[in-house]
Amino acid sequence: MSAAAAQPRTAVVSGGSRGLGKKLVERLLADGWRVATFSRKANGFIEEQRAAHPDTFFWQSTDVLEPGATREFTDAVDARFGRIGLLVNNAGVLHQGLLLTMPPAQVRESLTANLLAPVELTQACVRSMSRTGEGVVVNVSSINAVRGYRGVAAYAAAKAGMEGFSRSLARELGPMGIRVCTVTPGYFDSDMTAGVTDRNRERIQRRTPLGRLGTAEEVVDAVLFLASPAAAFITGQSLVIDGGISC
Ligand SMILES: NC(=O)c1ccc[n+]([C@@H]2O[C@H](COP(=O)([O-])OP(=O)(O)OC[C@H]3O[C@@H](n4cnc5c(N)ncnc54)[C@H](OP(=O)(O)O)[C@@H]3O)[C@@H](O)[C@H]2O)c1
Repeated sequence: MSAAAAQPRTAVVSGGSRGLGKKLVERLLADGWRVATFSRKANGFIEEQRAAHPDTFFWQSTDVLEPGATREFTDAVDARFGRIGLLVNNAGVLHQGLLLTMPPAQVRESLTANLLAPVELTQACVRSMSRTGEGVVVNVSSINAVRGYRGVAAYAAAKAGMEGFSRSLARELGPMGIRVCTVTPGYFDSDMTAGVTDRNRERIQRRTPLGRLGTAEEVVDAVLFLASPAAAFITGQSLVIDGGISC
């Protein structure tokens, strides 16, 4: 998929207002993509992109916990930009706590926002991709999908579900020219990890062979690689970006 193609391609990035999603939106716009994204709330970043890229940036307030919300968003993207070439399932929530005591609403939100909503968003986007038989889906998982950690059982279940979803969908869509891959990041700085205590941060760094947390930019690089022609023969695979903590 070439950003230099004459006709700009459309990328959908869920959760593009903050953290990794924000960095993805910035890089894709800079690389010449039309970018459609959503979050529940707009912020200064979203308003800036709307002003700077009136023809190539689209944002709509969307809460994936609302039934039908992802479908409404993709219908709006279709009306505005037409066919979708890249989907990055990035939006996510992390509720930390023991499953024994976690409120049922948080368990439900973990599974809905991190698994059901991305599956529904993917279904709508790959229907658009299938119109021309070309496209890439990159799902953002987590090392919690591949290693057990205390206090994240529901989140880990959803992320492991995303990895299984990616592998099976890659088999289903490969014959149509659509690739499906996963990135599996370790810890990087964002609002999601703002609550990590200094003690836990130090422990993570100590257990990481490369001796530090990652950055959102390093995950963006992996997503853009998987979306690029350099990865044209890669599908159904997961790329772990964690400084070696899970190896
Ligand atoms: N940070 C890490 O260390 C880390 C590690 C491994 C994997 N990940 C994964 O990487 C992805 C990005 O994480 P991040 O750290 O960048 O998160 P973040 O900074 O908390 O950003 C999350 C994004 O998702 C949106 N979002 C959350 N709930 C939503 C909902 N119900 N409906 C619509 N949008 C919603 C947020 O916008 P609103 O709040 O306005 O809705 C925001 O744009 C997630 O899938 C996460 O699981 C993160």
